[in-house]
Amino acid sequence: MVLTQTTILFLLLFPFLFIVCFFTLFSHAASSITPRILIRDVDGETLLSEELNFELGFFSLDNNSSLRYVGIWYYRIPGAAFIWVANRDRPINGRVGVITIGIDGNLVIFDGDKNQVWSSNVSNIKNNNTEAVLRDDGNLVLSTKDDDGERELWKSFDHPTDTFLPGMTVSVNPSKGEIRPFVSWKSSTDPAPGNFSMGIDPRASTQIVIWEGDKRRWRSGYWDGRIFTGVSNMTGSYLFGFRLNTDRNGERHLAYTPLENIEKVRFQIGWDGLERQYKWNDGEKRWDKTQEEPYNNCEIYNKCGSFAECSLASPMNCVCIRGFKPKEVDEWTKGNWSGGCKRMTPLKAEKNSNSNNDSSVAATEVDVEEDGFVKLQCRKLPDFARLVGTQDKNDCESYCLQETNCTAYTSVNGIGCLIWHGELLDIKDFEDGGGNTLYIRLAHSDLGDGKKKMKIVIIFSVVLGSICLGIFLWLVWRFRGRKAVAAASCCKTSDIPVFDITRSKSRQVSTEFSGSAELSLEGHELSGPELPLFNFDCIAIATDNFSDENKLGQGGFGPVYKGKLRGGEQIAVKRLSRRSGQGQEEFKNEMMLIAKLQHRNLVRLLGCSIQGEEMLLVYEYMPNKSLDQFLFDTVRQQQLNWNKRFEIIEGIARGLLYLHRDSRLRIIHRDLKASNILLDEDMNPKISDFGLARIFGGGQGEVNTTRVVGTYGYMAPEYAMEGLFSIKSDVYSFGVLLLEIVSGRKNTSFRHSDDSSLIGYAWHLWNEQRAMELVDPSICDSSLKNQQVLRCIHIGMLCVQDSAAHRPTMSSVVLMLESEATNLPLPKRPLLTSMRRRSEDRDCYMEGLDVSLNELTVTMVLGR
Ligand SMILES: *[C@@H]1O[C@H](CO)[C@@H](O)[C@H](O)[C@H]1NC(C)=O
Ligand SMILES: *[C@@H]1O[C@H](CO)[C@@H](O)[C@H](O)[C@H]1NC(C)=O
Ligand SMILES: *[C@@H]1O[C@H](CO)[C@@H](O)[C@H](O)[C@H]1NC(C)=O
Ligand SMILES: *[C@@H]1O[C@H](CO)[C@@H](O)[C@H](O)[C@H]1NC(C)=O
Repeated sequence: MVLTQTTILFLLLFPFLFIVCFFTLFSHAASSITPRILIRDVDGETLLSEELNFELGFFSLDNNSSLRYVGIWYYRIPGAAFIWVANRDRPINGRVGVITIGIDGNLVIFDGDKNQVWSSNVSNIKNNNTEAVLRDDGNLVLSTKDDDGERELWKSFDHPTDTFLPGMTVSVNPSKGEIRPFVSWKSSTDPAPGNFSMGIDPRASTQIVIWEGDKRRWRSGYWDGRIFTGVSNMTGSYLFGFRLNTDRNGERHLAYTPLENIEKVRFQIGWDGLERQYKWNDGEKRWDKTQEEPYNNCEIYNKCGSFAECSLASPMNCVCIRGFKPKEVDEWTKGNWSGGCKRMTPLKAEKNSNSNNDSSVAATEVDVEEDGFVKLQCRKLPDFARLVGTQDKNDCESYCLQETNCTAYTSVNGIGCLIWHGELLDIKDFEDGGGNTLYIRLAHSDLGDGKKKMKIVIIFSVVLGSICLGIFLWLVWRFRGRKAVAAASCCKTSDIPVFDITRSKSRQVSTEFSGSAELSLEGHELSGPELPLFNFDCIAIATDNFSDENKLGQGGFGPVYKGKLRGGEQIAVKRLSRRSGQGQEEFKNEMMLIAKLQHRNLVRLLGCSIQGEEMLLVYEYMPNKSLDQFLFDTVRQQQLNWNKRFEIIEGIARGLLYLHRDSRLRIIHRDLKASNILLDEDMNPKISDFGLARIFGGGQGEVNTTRVVGTYGYMAPEYAMEGLFSIKSDVYSFGVLLLEIVSGRKNTSFRHSDDSSLIGYAWHLWNEQRAMELVDPSICDSSLKNQQVLRCIHIGMLCVQDSAAHRPTMSSVVLMLESEATNLPLPKRPLLTSMRRRSEDRDCYMEGLDVSLNELTVTMVLGR
C-alpha cells in the first residue's frame, strides 16, 4: 500500500522534476549574445557554438586566482586550450564580469563597476540590431541585420591572440610588408601579450616567421606552392595542410585544412617562443604535439652568422660555407659564431668596382678569370632573397653574374629564380633529405679542384663523345650504303620522329628538383601526396650512389639499398624497376594511399622520390634484416625461442589483418613469405612490400589477373593455377609461413623426401597425433608450451586447406591465436599441395610453372 502511494506521488512529480532538470542543464548556455541576452560570470553562463564544438565564457588560469578572463575554448575537451582571449591584459577581479552588446552596438565586457574592460571597437554601427554568435570553427562573429540582410561587422578570427585554427585565414599584402597577428602569452598563467610573435613575411616567397621582440627567432623557409621548404619533414597536398592563395589584388591568404573535417588541430605560439602544432587524440583523450619549431639548435635563426651554415652532423654545429673562413678565428673556435664568415678571395666583380676607384690596382687585376658558382645541396635557403622574373636556371645564373653584389642564386620549382645580395643569413644543412640546392658565387680561384676535375671530365667526355660519334657516323654510312639501293627514302622518314621523341623525353628526365617538380604549380594540383617527397639527389648521396656495398638485397620489385641520411638516420631505399609501366600520377596516388597504412607490424614508408622514370621508396631501416635469415640458419635459429616465435606469428597475423580489414584500403599482399617479414631491433616482425602488388599488378579489385606475382611454395593453389586471388590466398601464405616458423624448415625443402612439402609432412604428423615432432629441434627451452604449439600447428593446417572457402579469415586466425579455449574446426586434408609426389590423386599442377628464384611471371599451364 505504502509502496503504491510513493509510486503515484513520483509519477505525479515526474514531469515537474524533468522540467526543473532540463532548465538547470541548459540555462547556463546561450546560443547568441544580443542587447537583451547577456552572459554573466556570476551565474556561470557561457555561449556555445551550434554543434557544441566551442564555448565562450569567463575563466581563470589558476584555481586560487580571482582574476577572470573572457575567452574561447574547446567544449568538453580537457587540457584548457584557450584559443582566444578578449581582455588579455585587463583581467576582471572576481566573478563580476558581464559580456553584452553595448549602446553603440559593439560587443563589450564590463567589470563589476560597469567599467568597459574590452570592446570590439567597430566604429559607426548604424543600427542597434547587432548580435554575437560563436561559430563551430571557433570564430566569434558580431553581425548586424538590416534591410539588406545580415552583415558581419567584426570577427575574432581577424583579431587572433596566439592560436591559428583551421578555418582562419591570415591575409598579407606583399606591398605592405610583414605582419605579426599572433602574439604569445606572457607566461603560462598570464595571457597578456608576451615577448614572442608569429606572422608572415611576404617578401620574395611567403615565409612564416617567429620574432622575439623585433629580432627573428625562426623562419619556415620559402613557400614553394606545396610546402614551406625550410621545415623538416613537412608534408602537404592541396587536399589538406597549408594552402596559400593569391587574389586578384595580389593579396595572399594563408589557410589550413585538416585531413579530416572532424580533426581538431591548432597552431600556437607559446609563451616560451616555441610554435607548436597540436592534434586532438580522441582515443587517448589528450592533445598530441605533432610539430614544434624551432625544434633544435640548428633551427634557431642565423645561429652561425653570415656565410656560415648550421649542421647537426658536424660536431661544432657551425661551419663556414665553401670559399669562406671565420671572420674572427679566436671567437669562432671558442664557439662564438655571431661574427660569421668572410670570403677568402674577393670576387672579380668586387675587384673591378674597387679598381674603378683605385687605378693602380686596375692595371694588374683586369684579366682575372670569371667568377663561378659552387653548388650546395639539401640546404635551407638563406633569408632575404629577391625574386627575379625568370624560371630558367641558366638565365637565373647569368642574372646573378651581371649584378655586382649578387652572392648566390637558385631556381626552385614553384617559386622561380631567387637571388641574394650581400650577406647570406640563416643557412641550414638538412640532414633528412629535405631542402633545396643553392649556388654560391665564388672567385674563380676558390672554386678549387671540383672545377679542375670538371674540366678533365669535360675534356674526356668530349674526346670520347667525338670517337663515338665518329664510329656511329661510320656505321650509319655503312648501313645506308647497303640499304640505299633498296629503300633510301624509308630511312629518312623513319629516322626523324624517333630522334625527336627521345630528345623530348630526356629533357623531362633532367628536371633538377624532381621531388616537387609536378606538384608545385600553385592551385593546379589536387592530388599531391601527403608523404614526404625526398630529393632524389639527397637519396643518391645517402646511398653512396646506390653502390653495391650498400645493397641489402633484391626484392620482388627492385633492389633495396641501405642509406644514411646526413642526420645519421638509417633508411632502406627500394629502387623500383621500371617495368611497372605506370605513370607518375598513378604512382603518386598509390603511394599516397599506401603511406596512410600505419601499423606496428608493417614496415613504415617514410617517403618516396621520383626523378624522371626513376621511382624510389624510402622505408625505415630494419637492423635485423628478414625472418628467413634467422629461421633457416642453423646457428641463428637458436636465437628464436618459442615465445619469440609465437610473438612473431601473432605480429604477422595482426599486420595482415590490418591490411585485409582494418586499413582504409583492402590490401592483398600477394607475396607474403619469410624474406618479406623484417625484424626490428627487438625482433618484432614487420611486413614489408605490402601494397606493391597493387602498384604493379593492376587493381586489387580484380579477381583474376594475367600476371601472377608470388613466390613458389607460398602460393595458394587457386592463385598459382588459375590466377585467382583473394584475401584467402594471403591466408594460405600465412599458413605456410606459420608452419615454417614452428618447424624452422622451408616449405620447399622437402622436394626429395617422402613428403612432397612441409604441408604434406605436417599433415602426416598431425594425422598421426605426432604434431609435436614438427617443432624445430633447436627450440629446446622451457618456454615451449605444448598446448600453444599444437594450436598453432592446427591453425596452420586450417590456413593451408585447398579450398579458399574453408580457410579462416585473418580475423578468426587472430582470435584463435589469442584465445586458449576456442574449439577449432578440423582441417581438411590438403591434397593439392601435399600429395603431389605420390601423385595418387591428381597430376602435378605446379609443374608447368616457370619458376624463377624470387618471383614468378607466369605463362600459365593449367592442369587437366
Ligand atoms: C578600443 O579603442 C580604445 C580607444 O581607441 C582603445 O583604448 C582600446 O584599446 C581598443 N580596444 C581594443 C580591444 O582594440
Ligand atoms: C621577456 O623579456 C623580458 C625582458 O627582456 C625578460 O625579462 C623575460 O624573461 C622575457 N620572458 C620570456 C618568457 O622570455
Ligand atoms: C662574440 O664575437 C663578437 C665579434 O665577433 C664580439 O663582438 C662579441 O662580444 C663576442 N661575444 C662573446 C660572448 O664573447
Ligand atoms: C668608389 O668611390 C666612390 C666615391 O669616390 C664611393 O662612393 C664608393 O663606395 C667606392 N667604391 C668602393 C667599392 O670602394
